[in-house]
Order: sequence, then structure tokens, then C-alpha cells
Amino acid sequence: MTRLIWNHACTVGVKAMDDQHGILVDAVNELRLAVVRGSGRESLRVLLDRIVEFSALHFVSEERLMEQSAFPGLGEHHAEHKRLLAQLRKAARSLECEDGFAMGALLASLREGFTTHIGALDRQYGPWLNERGIR
Ligand SMILES: [Fe+2]
Ligand SMILES: [Fe+2]
Repeated sequence: MTRLIWNHACTVGVKAMDDQHGILVDAVNELRLAVVRGSGRESLRVLLDRIVEFSALHFVSEERLMEQSAFPGLGEHHAEHKRLLAQLRKAARSLECEDGFAMGALLASLREGFTTHIGALDRQYGPWLNERGIR
């Protein structure tokens, strides 16, 4: 399993959001480590729940900033947050209920989902916010 690589190419240029992304990436890496160590379902569930809850908070923070600055891409971005969160909540439910839940596939989709979202969508609001004095 690949570690989530975090580098400066992934920064969006707004400190509070970059910090939150860092926390999310750490949380995903922590889940990955727990899987590698063979942790039980309950521990994995706690770690995944933390990712879900922190994502929800993070998405609200971003949307608030976009709303305050009248960012034109807010609607599309909000829809994507909603889709990601639904996907995360579905995975958390499956982890709780399904025997033989595929953790490897979940980690791969978390990694893909977050890096794609941050790289493609989050980076769009950075310059817009910077131009309005938010860094
Ligand atoms: Fe984000
Ligand atoms: Fe976002």
C-alpha cells in the first residue's frame, strides 16, 4: 500500500486549509498504518469515523470561506463535498457491518478521492481567496 504523499504541489495557498488538509492526510496515513499492523475492526472504525467527522468539518470551513468571498465555483464544489462525504459515510457503515470488508480498496479510494479533490477543485479557490486578502 502506498503512503499518501503530501508535498508543496498540493498546497492551496490558504494556510488554515493547508493545515486542515495536512491533518486529513495524517489521519488517512494513521488508518493505513493500523491496517498494516493488523488492528481490529473496532480500532479501524474509530480511525475512519475520525476521518469522516474531520472531513465534514473541513468541508464546512472551505464552503464558508468560498461563500464569504463569493467564489463562483461554490455550487460545484459543494456538490462534490456532498458526494465525497456520502461515499465516506457509506464506507464507514460498510466497515461496521460487512465481514471481510476490503480495507485495501477503501484506502485506495480515500487516497484517490482526497488527492484528486484537493489537486483539482481545492486549488481553484486558492488564488481567488488570495486576491481577496485571505491567505
Ligand atoms: Fe479541502
Ligand atoms: Fe474542497
